[in-house]
Amino acid sequence: MADEQRDVIEVLEQDHREVEEMFGELEALRGASTEEARSRRKELADRVTIELVRHSVAEEVLVYPEVEKKVSKEEAEHAREEHAEAEETLAKLEKLEPDDPAFDDELATLMSEIRHHIDDEEGEMFAHMRQVIDADELRRLGGRVEAFKKVAPTRPHPNVPNEPVPRMAAGPAASLFDRMRDLATGRGSSD
Ligand SMILES: [Fe+2]
Ligand SMILES: [Fe+2]
Repeated sequence: MADEQRDVIEVLEQDHREVEEMFGELEALRGASTEEARSRRKELADRVTIELVRHSVAEEVLVYPEVEKKVSKEEAEHAREEHAEAEETLAKLEKLEPDDPAFDDELATLMSEIRHHIDDEEGEMFAHMRQVIDADELRRLGGRVEAFKKVAPTRPHPNVPNEPVPRMAAGPAASLFDRMRDLATGRGSSD
């Protein structure tokens, strides 16, 4: 059936592929000095940030608590720590323009942090989830993640702990504020 709900691992892996694609384009544009390349790099950095924040907060609120309960507390904790590090990098990147040399440095840091994190999730955590969580449950979680991403924040908030309760407490105000700012500035509106 074409409209069958994807399971949570399919949803998250699809997000990872989209992020990797944007990273690839950003790398290809590194050092390009035309005005067009510069604005494309800014646009891609904004879009990758929006996608990573929505994806990460959805994992923290809906997925990692299941991992903690059913797979391993350590794996969930490790993943939250990697999110916190990447979120610091995203916050630095957000303040930089693409012609600033620090932009490339922060971007390179972000790419290596996220590629490593994706390897951990896909190589270990997701495989472990498949072993202990049944297919129906994974599909239900997939639907919840897709719905949640539509209302999740779109900007890094490194001062908010990467745990479900503080994320949810800060969530509605942060999401609304992020989305109003995005609308006011046209950020991320090209997709
Ligand atoms: Fe992920
Ligand atoms: Fe993650």
